[in-house]
Amino acid sequence: MLEIKNLHSGYNKIEVLHDINIKVPDGKIVVVIGRNGAGKSTLLNTISGLVKIKSGSIEMNGQKIPSAPHKIVASGIIQVPEGRRIFPSLTIAENLIMGGYLASNAEMNVRKEEVYNTFPILCQRENQQAGTLSGGEQQMLAMGRGMMAGPKILLLDEPSLGLAPLVFTQVFELIIKLNKERNMTIILVEQNATIALKMADYAYVLENGCVVIEGPGEELIKDARVKAAYLGAAVKTLKEPSPREYLE
Ligand SMILES: Nc1ncnc2c1ncn2[C@@H]1O[C@H](COP(=O)(O)OP(=O)(O)O)[C@@H](O)[C@H]1O
Ligand SMILES: [Mg+2]
Repeated sequence: MLEIKNLHSGYNKIEVLHDINIKVPDGKIVVVIGRNGAGKSTLLNTISGLVKIKSGSIEMNGQKIPSAPHKIVASGIIQVPEGRRIFPSLTIAENLIMGGYLASNAEMNVRKEEVYNTFPILCQRENQQAGTLSGGEQQMLAMGRGMMAGPKILLLDEPSLGLAPLVFTQVFELIIKLNKERNMTIILVEQNATIALKMADYAYVLENGCVVIEGPGEELIKDARVKAAYLGAAVKTLKEPSPREYLE
């Protein structure tokens, strides 16, 4: 269980996140939705140690997590950044190796097999330059690179960004697969509220750096305030069934 308690954080003198309280139970998908600028990336960057905590705490199983980013990675909290940030001139295999830099050779081989089982397209393209992959494939590579670090908790920052609806439906199916088949705990940050709430065990709405609404995903989808602010247009245009419906 990861627990964020009364967290305040931000940049220099500017506080972006105000008194955030979030619980992430093991094996669950916790979703944070919010508009551009709400503080979603700042939240993930604070968990991964890239943005400093001003006050409050982040605990894993009752213990404060370390403050240095590399120690946070070693403790099993791995972030897949917004915009993927793969290494375009390296091959897919080389990108994966970069993700497993703390692992032994044996661990690396096992994890690479897992990544290739989860994302077979990456195996087929193993020796291709990563920059030549499509947007959806690059997102898979970014998640695969995260898996190479042996995460206990995977932080996903807007994986749907820039992807066509059919492609991001596929990416979301893979996120559910990671959660269900590998029992991966996931914190998913999204602007795409409809689809994200459908897959959320529990969700939080972030506005101007504050959690304003929280609850199980299926309840938030029905919540009048969430509907009015986040689901209005999306519900009308998004015809795809939810990833959960695909899998079940
Ligand atoms: N490196 C930074 N320095 C100063 N302010 C920042 C920085 N990154 C983000 N911000 C500010 O923090 C707020 C939240 O941004 P961000 O966390 O990126 O939002 P989101 O990911 O929800 O779009 C915004 O007002 C943004 O301008
Ligand atoms: Mg962001």
